[in-house]
Amino acid sequence: MPTSATPDLGTEFLERPLANPLMNAAGVWCTLAAQLDALADSEAAAIVTKSCTLVRRDGNPEPRYRALPLGSINSMGLPNEGYLYYLDYAAHHDYDHKPLFVSVSGLSLDDNLTIVAALRDVVLPALLEINLSCPNVPGKAQPGYDFEAMDELLAEVATAYRRPFGVKLPPYFDFAHFDTVAQILNRYEHLAFITCINSVGNALIIDTGQESAVIRPKDGFGGLGGDYVLPTALANVNAFHRRCPTKTIIGCGGVRTGEHVFQHLLAGATLVQVGTALYEEGPGIFQRLARELAELMAHKGYRRIDEFRGRLKTL
Ligand code: SIN
Repeated sequence: MPTSATPDLGTEFLERPLANPLMNAAGVWCTLAAQLDALADSEAAAIVTKSCTLVRRDGNPEPRYRALPLGSINSMGLPNEGYLYYLDYAAHHDYDHKPLFVSVSGLSLDDNLTIVAALRDVVLPALLEINLSCPNVPGKAQPGYDFEAMDELLAEVATAYRRPFGVKLPPYFDFAHFDTVAQILNRYEHLAFITCINSVGNALIIDTGQESAVIRPKDGFGGLGGDYVLPTALANVNAFHRRCPTKTIIGCGGVRTGEHVFQHLLAGATLVQVGTALYEEGPGIFQRLARELAELMAHKGYRRIDEFRGRLKTL
């Protein structure tokens, strides 16, 4: 039943009303204050910082990002300004305008706990997201694939932080892993949101003509994003939406059009992040995505996101 009324893209995240469900993916357009400011000025309804470490990092050697016909491969290696830079940005951020997530990716449990304690002690409305899933630091495994280490980290963070926080997960590919990870996450009441997914780690793109890898770090192995990963992202969003009914899901992966946003919402996401497409198109993309999502909703006769979020049909 198509209608001509403009749909309302408004949503709520942890009881806070937002103008729409769109935001950047951590790592894209969010390393420097000027980039974060550009997101604040865009149609994105929320912002997340680059994942930060205890001290500033240059990251991996270039070339470390390559755009591809169906997405991108990257091995950035957590280039960031160090956590104090992002705490300072958070201290000056206008939270009435839009929420700010601070993404944290300490290189050890102790590093993570130091950063978490600092964020707790500054008592800002910033939202903590622990990144359990960076595939690109040579010699460091992703905590999200070591279930015991992940459980220990979450126990320590939950005890230290005592406020709502979230995690950024790597993609999982097996129902046994969905079940195990969901059981771990469900143990922590303060773990309020789950971001699915980080890039599909350690892919290898080969240039046939050059007979070569296309990025330098890790012999060419890097995280895949863009169209390649949309079905994996949707599966993870829906798997955790089903298994973690008290948690809010943030969808990330393969979002390039309003239809992709709609699919993430249908799978159960409350917010939807944009990575590769934001990297390629810049912050103006949020206006286009909002328009395309509104057009699709109008075409389908939906007036509000609540009318279809999480209502994926199965056969
Ligand atoms: C990177 O900096 O290598 C990407 C961060 C991530 O995948 O979490």
